[in-house]
Amino acid sequence: MKNILFAASECAPFLKTGGLADVVGSLPKYLDKAYFDCRVVMPYYSCMDPKWRSLATFHSSFYMDIDGKDVYVGILECDYDGVHYYFIDNEEYLGREKPYLGMPTDLGRFAFFCKAVLSILPVVGFRPDIIHCHDWQTGFIPVYLNSFFQGNSFFHGIKSIMTIHNLKFQGIWDKPLFMKVSGLPEYYFSPDKMEFHRDANMLKGGMVYANALTTVSATYAEEIKTPYYGERLDGLLRARAHDLRGIVNGIDYDVFNPETDEMIPYHFSAEDPSNKKKVKEELQKRMGLSTEGDAMVIGIVSRLTDQKGFDLIACVMEEMLQDNVQFAVLGTGDQRYEDMFRYFADKYPGKVGAAIYYSEEVAHMIYAGSDAFLMPSAFEPCGLSQMMAMRYGSLPIVRETGGLKDTVQPYNEFDKSGTGFSFTNYNAHDMMNVVRYAEKVYFDRPDDWAQLVKQAMNADYSWKASALKYQEMYDWMCGY
Ligand code: GLC
Repeated sequence: MKNILFAASECAPFLKTGGLADVVGSLPKYLDKAYFDCRVVMPYYSCMDPKWRSLATFHSSFYMDIDGKDVYVGILECDYDGVHYYFIDNEEYLGREKPYLGMPTDLGRFAFFCKAVLSILPVVGFRPDIIHCHDWQTGFIPVYLNSFFQGNSFFHGIKSIMTIHNLKFQGIWDKPLFMKVSGLPEYYFSPDKMEFHRDANMLKGGMVYANALTTVSATYAEEIKTPYYGERLDGLLRARAHDLRGIVNGIDYDVFNPETDEMIPYHFSAEDPSNKKKVKEELQKRMGLSTEGDAMVIGIVSRLTDQKGFDLIACVMEEMLQDNVQFAVLGTGDQRYEDMFRYFADKYPGKVGAAIYYSEEVAHMIYAGSDAFLMPSAFEPCGLSQMMAMRYGSLPIVRETGGLKDTVQPYNEFDKSGTGFSFTNYNAHDMMNVVRYAEKVYFDRPDDWAQLVKQAMNADYSWKASALKYQEMYDWMCGY
């Protein structure tokens, strides 16, 4: 039996702001329980929904040294859906109104979390063979394993993995504060370690000290070795190319299932998708869209940030709205994109519905009720929404980058293969042309469209294949 510990700043259903939580909350369930005891540790934020927060029960507490002070570490735990969870509690660091407060506050908060993750292990009596760290908030864990915790025999031989869900977020601040909150000596802040253009970088620490690196699609693993996508860490990634793997995410097939999903009013399947029309009508009503004239409904469910390609949409939205299409948009994020969708919803009532908030239920309605799903990302480490859309028979229209390229097979009009539509360059008119091509297929070749829907719904984006790849990596790292 191998022991694996996932460490992350968020995990569905306990707390979710993005795809990271979906991955951390689903992958452990799909590892073979006969060979892997995979547990998860995350912060016990007071802003967690009380429904989930109250599942955890107190285990024990102790005091830990941070910056010369004794700070409280509470341990809570629970079993949920076959996985054992640990939560780390400290009112001062984690008792805030939001999970993320921005730098430099978050540096201290997550430095605390990283040290606590390692410190609780002897207390709970779980010795992982591998600590699998996710994103910059956990970047100090590999560094601490190689420094403070080295001398303690409990930790000898524990390996670590750093998984990059989004290279854009690295946790950067000046060196003096890093040294203060981490307690690490100057030695760790040279350019080959945590220094980063005169500042210091938490993700870089994880990337230097972890035994292996992964990211969430094969294409993104290649892209981030180039300056264009590398966010100034491409050199390090090229240097560690032999230790870097790209393993595409899966989605939770129990949660995203058009045959059983309780968040949608009618159920359907690849064999019998007829009810999808009824869901579409419900969605249109809910989003204030007209139900007349069989428009093609294009869904968008996203964090509204510049990563996601909304600048392209801004350029050509007016033009696209001349066609018989409607947009159903859900998400929150940067003010300018929120305002943009509100503006279009106002200007084109019945054609654009903008839900500027987050709701899991509306998200499911959009996946299930839309005909197509637009994701023109500037970069996309993996992307989960396109897989969710395909599962519900909404055909993704994506830019060929990162995981979008790896998961969406573009329509081939000659042999009728494909599960969606795609374009290559980050260019608004390229995007619009492909949207119009999709409209053409939707309106003029309904048989082809139906076949694509079936193919998209039948494609396998579950964790089955990817969980095996993680298992293989764990085996390789443990040497058996
Ligand atoms: C980040 C990435 C997204 C990826 C997710 C889970 O949110 O932006 O592409 O799917 O992490 O790995």
